[in-house]
Amino acid sequence: MRIQYFESEETMGQQAAELVLQEVKRKTNALLCTATGSSPKPLYRHLAKHDKFFANARIIPLDEWIGLSSTEGSCHSYINEYILQPLKIPIARYLSFNVNVKSLERECKRVQEWLNREGPIDLCILGLGKNGHLGFNEPADELQPHCHIANLTPESQGHHMISGAESKPAQGLTLGIQDILAAKKIILLVSGAHKKDATEQLLSGKITTNCPATWLWKHDNVDCLILKGKTKKYVQQF
Ligand code: GLP
Repeated sequence: MRIQYFESEETMGQQAAELVLQEVKRKTNALLCTATGSSPKPLYRHLAKHDKFFANARIIPLDEWIGLSSTEGSCHSYINEYILQPLKIPIARYLSFNVNVKSLERECKRVQEWLNREGPIDLCILGLGKNGHLGFNEPADELQPHCHIANLTPESQGHHMISGAESKPAQGLTLGIQDILAAKKIILLVSGAHKKDATEQLLSGKITTNCPATWLWKHDNVDCLILKGKTKKYVQQF
């Protein structure tokens, strides 16, 4: 894992954007898996200045909340606003996760079959969850390899994306840990003082299902970008 520290969101977003641009220049129809949340926003803002390199790029989301009463706060709305619109990526090159279906199991199967056919992911953009989750692969005794419905932990239910939701989603649809690890390249973005514990656990180098992000140590092409900010003191020791 290549670990880099940054003083500002701006420089971290710029460096992450350079890594993404390298990939889409190398493979113009690259399949990108895109996390939502605040960590990748500066990256997506930088990418918006380079939309010409995304003329053939394909997008698969990392996850989606289940049970939101409107599209507000959904990963789909976020991806539309920060990725599809600015990078001019049409729906035809985006695999939308449809969580408003009778059978969510069938939806997982559809996503997995699509990924088996169109994948593997060329570049997976991840954010570190407060509890060490990746997508909705939550801390647990066992991790699920493929696309599945996850029961959300209270930490995930407290995520700011859904702070305005009438009722908090209890579940999410997410790609599995093996789908993530099968990506050819991974960028993990770590920002927010509230990630102190999860960051320490990640940087300890020990692999545990209690902190799903630690499984990234099993991958040999991961760039981990960490925003120092208020977390400066504790990251200096690593
Ligand atoms: C949520 C999202 C993930 C995101 C994570 C971290 O669970 N569904 O896709 O990576 O939180 O979010 P943030 O960067 O806002 O801390």
